[in-house]
Amino acid sequence: MTTYQNDIFLRMINGEKTERFPVWLMRQAGRILPEYRAVRSSLSGFKELVETPDLAAEVTIQPVDILGVDAAIIFSDILVVPEAMGLPYQMIEKKGPWFENTIRSTEDLSKISDQIDIEDRLGYVLEAIKVTKKELNNRVPLIGFAGAPWTIFCYMTEGEGSKTFSKAKRILYSQPDLAHKILDQITNVTIKYLKAQIAAGADVVQVFDSWAGILSPSTYSEFGTKYVRRICEAINEVPVTVFAKGAYYARKELSTLDCQTIGIDWNMDIEESRRIIGMEKTLQGNLDPCVLYSDFNTIEKNTKNLLNSFGNRRHIANLGHGVYPDTDPEKVKCFIETVKAHSIN
Ligand code: CP3
Repeated sequence: MTTYQNDIFLRMINGEKTERFPVWLMRQAGRILPEYRAVRSSLSGFKELVETPDLAAEVTIQPVDILGVDAAIIFSDILVVPEAMGLPYQMIEKKGPWFENTIRSTEDLSKISDQIDIEDRLGYVLEAIKVTKKELNNRVPLIGFAGAPWTIFCYMTEGEGSKTFSKAKRILYSQPDLAHKILDQITNVTIKYLKAQIAAGADVVQVFDSWAGILSPSTYSEFGTKYVRRICEAINEVPVTVFAKGAYYARKELSTLDCQTIGIDWNMDIEESRRIIGMEKTLQGNLDPCVLYSDFNTIEKNTKNLLNSFGNRRHIANLGHGVYPDTDPEKVKCFIETVKAHSIN
């Protein structure tokens, strides 16, 4: 067992008593930091940064040094998985992800495979984890991550971002067998990929189901939770966090997953979530990232209200989704410092 200078994040996940709530931010490694933008501007683009382990490690560690968070999250993207399976992506400036090829029919299945060598296709992420672990030198734990199968399915079928993902949802209703075949393959690769991240040094893994909120309870159960459950059951080496954004309607079902932590977004009330999910899980979240656009006093007040709603229960302070790129890092620090100053009695 590694000992960390700061292990409060792991202790809280494991349900141990801690003196305060741990804190980190989704998308902490990224555009809010001028130091990130400096590294990024010397490169051809986002993908080059993701694929250069020394630089990915550098921007992973920046928020630990600059913001004082209790955990690092490896700088990468969920879209490396569809690419490894056969669908390359581009990250288009000011627009977002774009895939030249998509899967919309049974014939299209020939474009993807789950029989891939993770080390060969995703070795750059594994190397970035190894470099990060070495450079972090046990200061804080490192979070590895992957997209949940449903969210990856959205990008593989739609081919780009969308408000409705109606091309992806259309397949669930019109070709459910095809949907299950794709989801099954994504799940197989995701399990192998997360296990490889853990072998490389990830201390916790988080599964991001960013588009859970666009499904109905029954479709999410059939096409979403089913596959997240398989991932949770397969990963026993380290704690697992599941963040299903917008899935307020699925909290009861999510509470039955074999995971330690459940992420909640700002639409979900903390106390209500605790009642629905029960006492056996650590919760993570859920300040509205837009609170960080307000003045320091308002941020402090909202953060204290959030901390009071945690009571003395298992909770990791975070935002309800990723921090927005135009947020002032000083405001982020205000959030982090308010959390750290609040003791649990
Ligand atoms: O959290 C972190 O700090 C680690 C890094 C991380 C990134 N993406 C870096 C990134 C993580 C955990 C992700 C996850 C991710 N990627 C998700 C799930 C979480 C969520 O936000 O819902 C999703 C849906 C994606 C897909 C993705 N990547 C989109 C839609 C975009 C474009 C929109 C945007 O935010 O710019 C990205 C790009 C991306 N991923 C950036 C970063 C830092 C911005 C690219 C840049 O620097 O130019």
